[in-house]
Amino acid sequence: MTAIIMDGKQVAVLVKDEVRREADRLQELGVGTCLATVLVGDDPASRSYLKMKHKACGEVGIISKNYELPASASQNEVLDLIDTLNRDNNVHGILVQLPLPGNIDSFQIIEGLLPAKDVDGLNPINLGRISYRKHSIFPCTPKGIMALLNHYEINVAGKHLVILNRSNLVGKPLYQLLTTVDPMQVLPLNTDMLMLNQDATVTMCHSKTPLVDKYTREADILITAVGKRPEFVVTADMVKEGAVVIDVGVSRMGSKLYGDVDFESVRDRAGYLTPVPGGVGPMTIAMLLHNTVITAAEQTKNTTVHLVKRWV
Ligand SMILES: NC(=O)c1ccc[n+]([C@@H]2O[C@H](COP(=O)([O-])OP(=O)(O)OC[C@H]3O[C@@H](n4cnc5c(N)ncnc54)[C@H](OP(=O)(O)O)[C@@H]3O)[C@@H](O)[C@H]2O)c1
Repeated sequence: MTAIIMDGKQVAVLVKDEVRREADRLQELGVGTCLATVLVGDDPASRSYLKMKHKACGEVGIISKNYELPASASQNEVLDLIDTLNRDNNVHGILVQLPLPGNIDSFQIIEGLLPAKDVDGLNPINLGRISYRKHSIFPCTPKGIMALLNHYEINVAGKHLVILNRSNLVGKPLYQLLTTVDPMQVLPLNTDMLMLNQDATVTMCHSKTPLVDKYTREADILITAVGKRPEFVVTADMVKEGAVVIDVGVSRMGSKLYGDVDFESVRDRAGYLTPVPGGVGPMTIAMLLHNTVITAAEQTKNTTVHLVKRWV
């Protein structure tokens, strides 16, 4: 068996086309959709991720502004900047690039974001609203994964999914989406759509799970987000024949990026497989843009979001 490669770059183009149309429509209403990013410190990886996000904004007609504070900035200085951006009516989305320096309490910063402008979907209000099926903003990476499953018409209902990750960024919101939201739905964005259960059965594993392989071998769909190569690698013997394997993990070794999955061997065993790079990464950025036009439209009087497809 040779896996179908799930091409995140290609699907991200479809999402971006739709975002561009919505940004253009908002522009016609006199609204220049604007994303503000906040970088504290000078971590090269964070700077490089932000560069990609700003470039992507430019491609779809979203205005993007970057605000920088030194690594020595205090908690209050970061909160003051967030407060200024929260109050700025020309800013529709705010993204705080993580991780923040160790002296900053990240939770307090994320909690300080106006939920309506929280394009990463990590504010506790937005994360909590998913549990109540009353959300409009989903975290970008889980949303990108659901959109990939949707695009490749992989229905998760009745399937056993195994997630290797329990973080707020990936594992926990993904669990909510897999069990409560139907990714096959195509509905207007403001519809309170979540009447359907997605009905996946999900097992979450983490670093303290004994015998992780036992669970991965049972997975119809395996989603791995560990990011600890070479210490942790998903090899072919850990994968059920024909399974869908979504690789979220990113490890930098030398100048190259690797996922969690041993791509070459797993390709001959899985039914579907995402590459790294070119799988979940481009989808995450596309969903940041998608969330930004949603927040812009929702903050604009007398209009609702005009996107054909919710993706999740
Ligand atoms: N491509 C993208 O767009 C994208 C987006 C977001 C994140 N990522 C990548 O995804 C990875 C995870 O990100 P994160 O922010 O969620 O990091 P994180 O908070 O460090 O989460 C890593 C998770 O992996 C678990 N883990 C560690 N060793 C394990 C093992 N041997 N078996 C099973 N689980 C194990 C950890 O368990 P514990 O909870 O017990 O520590 C934790 O839940 C990183 O590589 C990150 O770069 C990629």
